[in-house]
Amino acid sequence: MFEEAQYFAPIATQADGSVVVELAASHPGFADPVYRARRNAIAALAVGYRAGTPIPAAEYTEQEHEVWVAVTRELAAKHARYATAEYLGGAAALGLPADRIPQLEEVSRLLEPLTGFRYLPAAGLVPLREFYGVLADGFFHSTQYIRHHSVPFYTPEPDVIHEVIGHANALASPRYAALYRLAGQAARRVEGEEALEFVSKVFWFTLEFGVMREADGLKAYGAGILSSYGEIEEFRGMDIRPLDLPAMGATDYDITKYQDVLFRAESLQHLEDVVGGFWDTCDDDSIAKLVADGV
Ligand code: TRP
Ligand code: FE
Repeated sequence: MFEEAQYFAPIATQADGSVVVELAASHPGFADPVYRARRNAIAALAVGYRAGTPIPAAEYTEQEHEVWVAVTRELAAKHARYATAEYLGGAAALGLPADRIPQLEEVSRLLEPLTGFRYLPAAGLVPLREFYGVLADGFFHSTQYIRHHSVPFYTPEPDVIHEVIGHANALASPRYAALYRLAGQAARRVEGEEALEFVSKVFWFTLEFGVMREADGLKAYGAGILSSYGEIEEFRGMDIRPLDLPAMGATDYDITKYQDVLFRAESLQHLEDVVGGFWDTCDDDSIAKLVADGV
């Protein structure tokens, strides 16, 4: 998505048709030729993807599966303590494998009977309006590569662990899935770039990094917190603010670090009323007023 864009590695198609992912020198996989070859091969699948066909399977290596297994194990213990009840219900219904990386096609097969959502492969950055817009139709654009094995607890670059463990478990909940669809409808309804950016910021501070009060403490429902076993240990100590749309629009964030400003819903119903209600009805004019309220 837009803000993440800065973090998506550029992809170049060579004269011979091969695909090269340009990792930054600071990327943990930069000096690992095996990892770089894997990234190129996986990006080529998405570049070659044609809408309406099955998502090509990525033949993951043993080492890649091991990253998934280790991260799944760490996250399962932390989700039990720090994920919302609704997210845990989604995860139980979805039943992702713990012993290997699932193919995106398999994620779609598990998810579609629950909430109608299906996955689409993304080679890298998907334009903001497209990424959000297709949520209205029940499509979720997903990367297919996995984070480098040397830094499993956090990645500033969205990977299959984030897309599937973070988002698919949430998309398996009918109530969260309805919010994703409303975000998509909002992205389609607004015309201006400023309004679209506001819609995406509300998405960032809720479905990516939202936290919620529950009877036994503060819980996370945002996919970005729930896919990082580093960040999930830290969110309760961050600057936790009340759910407030103008404030979200006026708050900047840095995608390369743990988020230090988070917005708390008082309940799922509260989130649905404030954020679902916003996405359901917003337009360029109503957003211009919210932007003005935030400054
Ligand atoms: N930090 C997340 C993780 O380690 C992945 C991630 C990268 C992400 N960029 C993001 C999550 C942007 C949400 C938004 O799993
Ligand atoms: Fe995400």
